[in-house]
Amino acid sequence: MNYRHAFHAANHADVLKHSVLLHWLSHLKRKPAPFAVLDSHAGPGLYDLASDAALRSPEWRDGLGRLWDWADPPLLIAALLDAVRARNPDGALRFYPGSPQLIADALRTADRLVAVERHPADVAELRGRFRGVRGVQVHERDAWEALGALFPFPEKRGLILIDPPYEAPDELDRAAAAVRDLLRRAPHAQILWWRPLKDEAALVRADAEALALARAEFLRLDLAVAAPEREGPLRASSLLAINPPYTLREAARTCIPALPQRLAQCQGAAFIVA
Ligand SMILES: C[S@@+](CC[C@H](N)C(=O)[O-])C[C@H]1O[C@@H](n2cnc3c(N)ncnc32)[C@H](O)[C@@H]1O
Repeated sequence: MNYRHAFHAANHADVLKHSVLLHWLSHLKRKPAPFAVLDSHAGPGLYDLASDAALRSPEWRDGLGRLWDWADPPLLIAALLDAVRARNPDGALRFYPGSPQLIADALRTADRLVAVERHPADVAELRGRFRGVRGVQVHERDAWEALGALFPFPEKRGLILIDPPYEAPDELDRAAAAVRDLLRRAPHAQILWWRPLKDEAALVRADAEALALARAEFLRLDLAVAAPEREGPLRASSLLAINPPYTLREAARTCIPALPQRLAQCQGAAFIVA
């Protein structure tokens, strides 16, 4: 358990993941019926971009930092910028909300967030942050066990965010098996699954494994800030959106080509919606 998201918060992968997450939540809110969100790998929830970790590895500068002054962003990005601005009322980018904070900020009174995290320090932060906040439960437990235990939701609608650190070599396979199990139990489950894009063949295999038994609709969204490489810093990441809102494809397409142009680090930057 060495992974600490504070080193990566607000990078290009978070921009992709969190803008799609917010779009999905706004779509769920179109219907009055309450929904639940299961954030299986929650992290601590809020990041100080002036902390030692963020200063040592200022990935946010080449992520959200490049979008902060975007005057006319596409709607998908505008919603993320609005959510981050709400945490930085003086206008300077310092605090970046992670997935559980973004979700909690978006919930209506009867909606529910279950944030699962295994790192004791992150659990303590989450517990402190959400103590007394209606609709938010924090579980200190293993994500893969929790996905089996906490789904289906009593609300019968909602979203599962799966965002592991991929520290262990088998974590992509582990996640694929978990998605497969969720879809076996509930073919219409709505799942947002984030993956690093380093090895295209491995992702294709994982997707085939995850979707093998399901007749689920899905959309793959890849954001590369340079041509993907197996080794070295993360240059590209991929979301598999399973049973996504019908509005997501079009919303994502409006980010082409401006988003990859803004985030490009060298040749090969692209945003692909397939
Ligand atoms: C990529 S970070 C999560 C970032 C967060 N979802 C966000 O978007 O702001 C992955 C998190 O998963 C946690 N984690 C790793 N393995 C876990 C497991 N088996 N069960 C629960 N949490 C785990 C790590 O401690 C880390 O905080």
